[in-house]
Amino acid sequence: MPTAGLEDVIAAETSISDIDGKLGRLFYVGYDIHELAQGSSFEEIVYLLHHLELPNKAQLDEVAEQLTNERELDTFVEGFMPTMVQQTSPMSMLRTTVSASSAYDPDGWDQSAEANYRKAIRLIARFPTVIAAFHRLRTEKEVLKPNKKLTHAGNFLRMLTGNEPDDESARILDICLVLHADHTMNASTFAARVAASTLADIHSATTAAIATLKGPLHGGANEAVMKTLLEIGSVDKVEEVVRAKLGAKERIMGFGHRVYKTEDPRATHLRRLSKRAGEMAGDTRWHEMSLKMEEVVKAEKGLYPNVDFYAASVYYSLGIPVDLFTPVFAASRVAGWTAHIREQLSDNRLIRPESAYVGPSLRSYVPIDQRG
Ligand code: COA
Repeated sequence: MPTAGLEDVIAAETSISDIDGKLGRLFYVGYDIHELAQGSSFEEIVYLLHHLELPNKAQLDEVAEQLTNERELDTFVEGFMPTMVQQTSPMSMLRTTVSASSAYDPDGWDQSAEANYRKAIRLIARFPTVIAAFHRLRTEKEVLKPNKKLTHAGNFLRMLTGNEPDDESARILDICLVLHADHTMNASTFAARVAASTLADIHSATTAAIATLKGPLHGGANEAVMKTLLEIGSVDKVEEVVRAKLGAKERIMGFGHRVYKTEDPRATHLRRLSKRAGEMAGDTRWHEMSLKMEEVVKAEKGLYPNVDFYAASVYYSLGIPVDLFTPVFAASRVAGWTAHIREQLSDNRLIRPESAYVGPSLRSYVPIDQRG
């Protein structure tokens, strides 16, 4: 019989990332996430996930320049952004935009490894531009062109908020992007690899990944966390509300994980960043409420916070609108998705598992005029 949710099933070999769920450790290409979060930028992580080595200075400069040069949207996508703004949620917009942009990629339908690398860089470079443009249009503000002097994270914040961020805020978002960039065979990465294994193009596989990240059991949890914090409103109400939710058998978003049976190592950094971002914004309430929620959920259910829990208060304190939290997650995870798609294609076999049939056994066919 199948394992519900494919738990413990090994679906692929990968050199990109690895998790030790019992010890609460995460590695990108053999490097501990704690060291990467301390020392690396998102641009370095893009290089690492795609080349399976950390870049030297020249290689980092090159990948940063490639990303910088690919930030601007093509006129086709720019043209339909106003319609997207009126008709869709941000994640639906992102999914549709990535799908549509395949038609205008300068590499066309070339699916060579080299073209796919260039397409990957374009996708990673443009996610922030698309997300920021969507937000500026819906708030009737000028859509800002990317600034070539700023880092990936710094430029993202500037295009979104209209203000050039201070170095510390830019670095906080940068660390968030580092922490979210890859996570083994999570649901969206699996979806991307399944689509890629049919030899569908990289845009199609990335579209499948975005669609899968959207749900509240995956990337959508970070928005749900912030909604819970806003609904509770103050530290003194946390215990009562959380206990009532658990009593009503509700899930507390941002807690629990299929693989980690202890603290998610990304949460360790995000907890610290949540405090700092709150201090910088002059309001540590969301951080303090989060600490209290963690205490109550741990005591009641023995569950630990996952990546989405403290990310919520970090993004909120950075001034990122709540419905953009999952798109921001996607703007980081696209680095991992595209690396996995390229890895899948480098040694591809169609992913086509079996199912266990549990329906009726062979029955006699009854013509429609004889059915009761
Ligand atoms: N709040 C309350 N109870 C939770 C819970 C949560 N966040 N997460 C898991 N549980 C409970 C379940 O109710 C279940 O209890 P039961 O055995 O008494 O029915 C048990 O823990 C196992 O849950 P299950 O859904 O089978 O675990 P899973 O491995 O399939 O799910 C998640 C993993 C992440 C989907 C799950 O923990 C969850 O829904 N978390 C909230 C959403 C979230 O934060 N997602 C982001 C993940 S990074």
